[in-house]
Amino acid sequence: MSSYHEPVLLKETLDGLKVREDGTYLDLTLGGGGHACAVLNRLDPKRGRLVGVDQDEDALLHARKRLALFPHFQSYYGNFGDKPLWDVLAPLSPFDGILMDLGVSSHQLDEGERGFSFIKESALDMRMDRQSSLTARQVVNSLSERELADVIYRYGEERKSRQIAKKICQSRPVKTTSELAEIIHSCFSGRERRLSHIDPATRTFQGLRIFVNRELDRLAEGLKYAVAFLKPGGRLAVIAYHSLEDRIVKDYLRMESRDCLCPKNVPVCVCGHKASVRIINKKIIIPSDEEKGKNPRSRSARLRVAEKL
Ligand SMILES: C[S@@+](CC[C@H](N)C(=O)[O-])C[C@H]1O[C@@H](n2cnc3c(N)ncnc32)[C@H](O)[C@@H]1O
Repeated sequence: MSSYHEPVLLKETLDGLKVREDGTYLDLTLGGGGHACAVLNRLDPKRGRLVGVDQDEDALLHARKRLALFPHFQSYYGNFGDKPLWDVLAPLSPFDGILMDLGVSSHQLDEGERGFSFIKESALDMRMDRQSSLTARQVVNSLSERELADVIYRYGEERKSRQIAKKICQSRPVKTTSELAEIIHSCFSGRERRLSHIDPATRTFQGLRIFVNRELDRLAEGLKYAVAFLKPGGRLAVIAYHSLEDRIVKDYLRMESRDCLCPKNVPVCVCGHKASVRIINKKIIIPSDEEKGKNPRSRSARLRVAEKL
């Protein structure tokens, strides 16, 4: 097993995707290649194919090495929210199954220099795609106090966003993850810290990361492309790790599973919307206690599966 990233909800994801040995599958979040490897093992190398994508070149490099022995694997650098990637994928489509395992990998979190974690001392970066220009350092040091508070509140769901933003602005320039963590910690009393089941810096770091990588916009775009690029009967599996992204997935799939989106008081449909998917699991699929025990990072995972009509 690769120590780069432990795949989450592996069996449930493979079952959800209904992997067939002659199918063509797309993993939009290759990461350490854990899910991809399991799919490739189920495919007939002559008839099946897995296409992998990641926006992190380090992840791609790792996955390419790990999966090099599979002749039916190919991979691309790109962001699943961007059209140019889908232009490249178009000739390989339609797909029998598409996977989005969202967020950051354990490797990205653990690798100090990426600046995702407040546990490791590093420059404030947080870019999944190191070719993109906006870093957490720029966000923290250049947004107005109000904009910064909004980012921390909206994407980190942090109630003390205004206080934290004020402290950050007073401490500028903030250069490292530990400087930022210290500023955030100083906004919480010892009692608040003791009573909290997570480090109080978690929410602010999450908010900044989501903003830097425009994660929610990309997800909303990516879902549209993914559904469009599936074969009828093909499956989409999405694993989310926090309520903000899960809500986007849930709302999108619900909307796409309905034939009409007119308000209830409109007697005859005028929108003409046609359902494009069927939701497979009405209730979210979450990891077993055993998986959560073995892999604490799986704790917040929620899997949703839909089938293209
Ligand atoms: C949770 S990890 C995936 C782990 C993988 N399933 C495994 O088993 O090893 C998420 C990966 O998706 C990538 N990623 C996140 N958002 C992306 C996006 N919008 N486009 C492309 N890749 C993305 C990240 O760079 C990261 O490597």
